[in-house]
Amino acid sequence: MRSLIPFLYLLLIAGASDHTMPFMEYLDQNHLVCLKWGFDNLEGNITFKLIVNTTGWVGFGFSPNGGMAGSDIVMGGLGTGGTYFADYHATGNSMPLMDQQQSYTLLSLNESDGQTIITFQRTIQSCDDQDVHITAQPIKLIYAYGPTDDIAYHQARRGTKEVNLLNYMTRTTLTSVSYLSATVDSITVPSSQTYYHCKVMKFPTLNTKHHIYLVEPVIEHHDMVHHMLLYRCPSFVTEPYDKPCYRGDIGDACFRVVAAWGVGGGVFELPENAGIPVGGEDSDTLYRLEIHYNNPNRETGRTDSSGLRLYYTAQLRQHDVGILPTGLLHFDKMQYNIPPKAPRFHTYGVCNTTIISQFVNPLPDLQVFAVLLHTHLAGRKVRVGHYRSGKQIDFLGLDENYDFEIQQIINLGNIKTIQQGDEIAVECTYNTTNRVGVTKMGLATTDEMCLAFLLYYPAIEISLCISHPNTTHPLMSRSYRTSVVTIPSDLEIAEYEGLLKAVPQIQMAVNDQSQLSSYKNGFVREMMKTPTVTCQNNKASSRLGTSWIVNPARFTLLLLWIAKM
Ligand SMILES: *[C@@H]1O[C@H](CO)[C@@H](O)[C@H](O)[C@H]1NC(C)=O
Ligand SMILES: *[C@@H]1O[C@H](CO)[C@@H](O)[C@H](O)[C@H]1NC(C)=O
Repeated sequence: MRSLIPFLYLLLIAGASDHTMPFMEYLDQNHLVCLKWGFDNLEGNITFKLIVNTTGWVGFGFSPNGGMAGSDIVMGGLGTGGTYFADYHATGNSMPLMDQQQSYTLLSLNESDGQTIITFQRTIQSCDDQDVHITAQPIKLIYAYGPTDDIAYHQARRGTKEVNLLNYMTRTTLTSVSYLSATVDSITVPSSQTYYHCKVMKFPTLNTKHHIYLVEPVIEHHDMVHHMLLYRCPSFVTEPYDKPCYRGDIGDACFRVVAAWGVGGGVFELPENAGIPVGGEDSDTLYRLEIHYNNPNRETGRTDSSGLRLYYTAQLRQHDVGILPTGLLHFDKMQYNIPPKAPRFHTYGVCNTTIISQFVNPLPDLQVFAVLLHTHLAGRKVRVGHYRSGKQIDFLGLDENYDFEIQQIINLGNIKTIQQGDEIAVECTYNTTNRVGVTKMGLATTDEMCLAFLLYYPAIEISLCISHPNTTHPLMSRSYRTSVVTIPSDLEIAEYEGLLKAVPQIQMAVNDQSQLSSYKNGFVREMMKTPTVTCQNNKASSRLGTSWIVNPARFTLLLLWIAKM
């Protein structure tokens, strides 16, 4: 403990600037032009830091095809007359023209060690025809620079690179082919619509600690494999096995998520400073691979060998990565159903980090860098609110157009810090207008879930931080529970939705050894409207369309019990 404090202090200093600009790419082969960036969906802006090995002028921009024509450019430098920086556009292979509307804000510009370092910001969207919109698609970045501050023809000091700025993932060329294979081996997929297969396994022994830096899905049947999770087991799970999940076997207690993949996702590479720890002291640890097979046509005789490949390295990275599942988790006795004919039904799950402090105290700052949002077929939106001292300060994840077929781990535009005492709320919006019966919270694809898996560092020994509404609360008695006989009216749906949100939340955190910490009196705070950042001039005050409504009902958090599960 004593040695932890200076360590955390160092982390704070080292991490301070990187948090707002977590991404980095060299735009050229020779590593003379380096771009760092980060963005904030809430503020609607993107910040760049361009570092170029020259003391002359520097240009950077966005191009439709990699050439100059039609591109949106900034140029700047530090000359004898001081700092210069402006927004330009190019109409051809000629000197760019200065924009009438200057859409970029210079934050800093300096020279040191023969490098020019320019930090500037713009809005992600722009209403200037002379600027390019930045989207979550790959975009061609261009750069050029000169040896002096006279902006002149760049000759060969130019180039282009395609980068997805808003959905970025590191791409290392695999230098070693060392991977751990977490796959099933020709298992028979039963003819039921939903099947969860569990393989509890031990990896080949790695005597020292290693870091997993890339997770690759190996999918044999894309039409059936719906999601895969790899969990670490507590030390009391010692025997491997291969059988259906959630039938009361000991491996059901393996709940610490190590790697995750959802339908539509691809390879996930971790940021350069972080890895998932494996081996060393952990070498006796068992892992559970869970594969959810979705077999709507109830086909028979299909065998499958899907799973995950975990590429690892002995070169340890700065941080150990953890994954924290938050949100609403189903329990069989929960009696929580989503009514049919509801176009926008909201459910909530909350996590008050105070409950985690029962196991990990003090709770280090958790740096969240990516998120995987998960619902089933009726899910239309998922939002993850981040609260401090009772106020929402940010979103940890946001998908206003949730698509069940595309569940990817999304890197956040800036690293978000969860502090001890912060609260997290996951809101899911479902559309059940085309359903006639209730939708249960459960495991099947036709049931629902509402989860956000937060990828963060440094890893703590916590497997879950989830909640569900206390459906046995007296307030709930007027509502239907397990089924509806008649189609509910809009008013009934709204009332039921309101009650589920108002009754106390039973919150739970589970640690690595399956110990449970629980509070019965959590509550759901209001979540701000998703900011709609429309085209605007780049002025620092760009917090738009956010409204704060504070829930008047304040329940006192009460620690009720800590017990073994
Ligand atoms: C660029 O400049 C930095 C700082 O002077 C230096 O450390 C680095 O080696 C240079 N890069 C190249 C590729 O010359
Ligand atoms: C809900 O789903 C129905 C049927 O698929 C669709 O027509 C309707 O527009 C959806 N409503 C919302 C609010 O998403």
